Amino acid sequence: MKHPLYLQLLARLKQDLQVLPDKPDETPRNTLDCLWALAAGQPLAISQVRDAVIDDLDLEAQATLNALVDKRLAGTPLSHLTGRQDFMGLVLKSSEAALVPRRETEILGRAAIGKLQGLDVEAPWVVDLCTGCGNLALAMAVAAPQARVWGSDLSEEAVALARENTEFVGRPDVSFYAGDLVVPFDNEEFLGRVDLLTCNPPYISSAKVEQMPEEISGHEPHMAFDGGPFGIKIIQRLIQDAPRLLRPGGWLLFEVGLGQGEPMKQRLERNDAFDQVEVFVDDHGDVRALAARRRR
Ligand SMILES: C[S@@+](CC[C@H](N)C(=O)[O-])C[C@H]1O[C@@H](n2cnc3c(N)ncnc32)[C@H](O)[C@@H]1O
Repeated sequence: MKHPLYLQLLARLKQDLQVLPDKPDETPRNTLDCLWALAAGQPLAISQVRDAVIDDLDLEAQATLNALVDKRLAGTPLSHLTGRQDFMGLVLKSSEAALVPRRETEILGRAAIGKLQGLDVEAPWVVDLCTGCGNLALAMAVAAPQARVWGSDLSEEAVALARENTEFVGRPDVSFYAGDLVVPFDNEEFLGRVDLLTCNPPYISSAKVEQMPEEISGHEPHMAFDGGPFGIKIIQRLIQDAPRLLRPGGWLLFEVGLGQGEPMKQRLERNDAFDQVEVFVDDHGDVRALAARRRR
């Protein structure tokens, strides 16, 4: 038998909650379950709330819950309220310091882990650029414990959150640096040494960034989305700069926006630095990630 407040707030969320297409895991019910748990003092991600035993709320906690539901309905992302976000089976810390990892980025994550597991290298070197909260870097580090993993981001705030996440997922050896694209690794230690380079870059055109829903534009860093006038400014730089870091036979993998897959595939195929190009598609058949092998 559910508490009357639960039933009342569930009805409100069912009526008013707008779930964004790129956060498909959220429902009125699991949103309420997460917020109820939070009001009871347990910050949980969606995946954790299903089996959690959650306490009843006293009057003060009920007021907290009402305020949390108001904030969610006003557009604050669920994971900013709970401070938790699921990504590829991991629970990560989340905040306004970095993009909330999206389910669609798991396409790139799975492709990268597949490549990593296929490498004939004892302790592969892995670098994740535009790392945000460190989700891809840490998913790879957890899936391939033998790998040495580094990440970087232009945003100092994102790097600080990524560093917190290393402890949170149990890979405190993963290092994160602040800097522009490949710059933190553009030195003798890394040049020509990296086995796998991943990147989920900003790829939305500047004009479209202005039109994004309030839940995104009002709460997530613009720097995480803005890919310049045509959306591909960072991707172009990545394709140009990544080969310097990769060893012959090493792989570059990156995410692209809808409609960018075919032109970026052609660009990689025309580039002499690469000798093999692969695409990875979503459930609708749209290309959402690309892989290119550094020429041997
Ligand atoms: C789309 S988000 C990806 C975040 C995270 N990797 C993920 O998959 O959720 C892009 C990230 O690129 C970072 N960024 C933007 N411009 C950059 C640049 N020139 N060099 C490095 N990072 C940059 C942003 O701060 C943001 O964290």
